Amino acid sequence: MQSRIEKNNLKSIVYPSDGNYFGKWSEGEKIAQSGKGATWSDKNEDVNGGSCYNCHQLDKKEIAYGNIGPSLYNYGKLRGNSEAVVKYTWGKLYNAKAFNACSAMPRFGHFKLLTENQIRDLMALLFDPQSPVNQ
Ligand code: HEC
Repeated sequence: MQSRIEKNNLKSIVYPSDGNYFGKWSEGEKIAQSGKGATWSDKNEDVNGGSCYNCHQLDKKEIAYGNIGPSLYNYGKLRGNSEAVVKYTWGKLYNAKAFNACSAMPRFGHFKLLTENQIRDLMALLFDPQSPVNQ
C-alpha cells in the first residue's frame, strides 16, 4: 500500500520545464527562513516561504532551527550533484510523499506552495558550493 502511494506521488512530480534545476542560493536562504503563507492572515497574492528552518538545520550560522527533519548542513558536499541526487532532491521538494508516504514535510510543488523558481533557489541553497549550507 505504502509503495503504491509513493509510486503515484512520484508520477505527479513536475521537473523543471527548461531542464534548469538551479537558481540563486541567496534567494533560497530567504525562502528557507520565511514562514509566510497558507495561514488565515496571509493574502492570496502574498509570496509564500518554505519554513525549512522549522524542521531542518541548513546554514550553520542560523542557530534557530527545528529537528523534525534531518540536518541539511553540507547537503551538496555530502551528496554530490549526480543527476540521480539532483532529481531526487527536486522531487523531494516538489512532493515529499513520493519518497515517504507518511512524510511530515510539506509538498511544496504539489500544492503550489512554492513556484518552480523558488524551488530552483532552494536547490541552489542545497547544492551550490558557494552556499552557506556547504561551507
Ligand atoms: C514540517 C517539517 C518540515 C519542513 C517545513 C520541511 N521539511 Fe524537509 N524533511 C522533513 C522530514 C521529516 C524529512 C525526512 C524524510 C521524510 O520523512 O520525508 C525531510 C527531508 C528533506 C530532504 C531529504 C533529506 C535526505 O537526506 O534525503 C530535503 C532535501 C529536505 N527535507 C529539504 C527541505 C527544504 C528545502 C524545506 C523548505 C522548503 C523543507 N525540507 C521543509 C520535514 C520538513
